[in-house]
Amino acid sequence: MKKKHVYHSKTLDKDGTAHYSHTENETWAFLLKRQKELVKTRASKEYLKGVEILNFEDKIPQHYEITDILKSHTGWGVEPVPALIQPEKFFSLLANKRFPAANFIRIPEEIDYIEEPDVFHELFGHCPLLTNAPYAEFMHQYGKLALKADQKTQMRMFRLFWFTIEFGLIKEDNLIKAYGGGILSSKSEIIYSVESDIPERRPLIPMDALRTKFRIDILQPVYFVIESYDDLFKLIAVDPLKMAQESFFMEDFPAKFEKRKKA
Ligand SMILES: [Fe+2]
Repeated sequence: MKKKHVYHSKTLDKDGTAHYSHTENETWAFLLKRQKELVKTRASKEYLKGVEILNFEDKIPQHYEITDILKSHTGWGVEPVPALIQPEKFFSLLANKRFPAANFIRIPEEIDYIEEPDVFHELFGHCPLLTNAPYAEFMHQYGKLALKADQKTQMRMFRLFWFTIEFGLIKEDNLIKAYGGGILSSKSEIIYSVESDIPERRPLIPMDALRTKFRIDILQPVYFVIESYDDLFKLIAVDPLKMAQESFFMEDFPAKFEKRKKA
């Protein structure tokens, strides 16, 4: 079996700049061109507006460049972090309007899919919507709430995060569009989530999402659909922390996928 490539985050120089090779910038340019075409008819209007605002170029942006733009729209910024961080660190960054984002990019051999979130996923998938006020406010408030939870509850709160921020769908003009960063940065899932007859698409009922298990390495068998970004904002009012605690007293829905085999 081929050994899996191990990614490391880029060390920043004294000015906070990450330096990328020609190949790395080419990978970004290739992904950007391909994905911009794919999202055109399948992504939410607000996301596409954000893509225009961020005005990505053919080289990997620095996190501080994206921060400068987001700041003027919603007060958010991007924080370079290693690929995997502890839930407490993750939510505390959100609570401070800092979006945790890896700064390495996938190798050409893994151009179509990597399991780890790379800089393309973080900046192209997530950051455009951080220019949108209700979406950005949801992330901020969700982070603040999750910080009050113990680690077990924080892990449960990830489910709701997963089915909204990572793999959420939205209804716009009676059509299904994508707004989750995991979908928007994926070559295959952007088509599958919006157009395929295979997955189930359910209205977002927060408790249902909290009772739904997920796997990170497959196309999602279930998506939750919101009617508008205000639905996310309203979600805070129904106290997702309390709901996550209550969800432990309810059964999970039967998983719609096989258990992941150990590598
Ligand atoms: Fe993500």
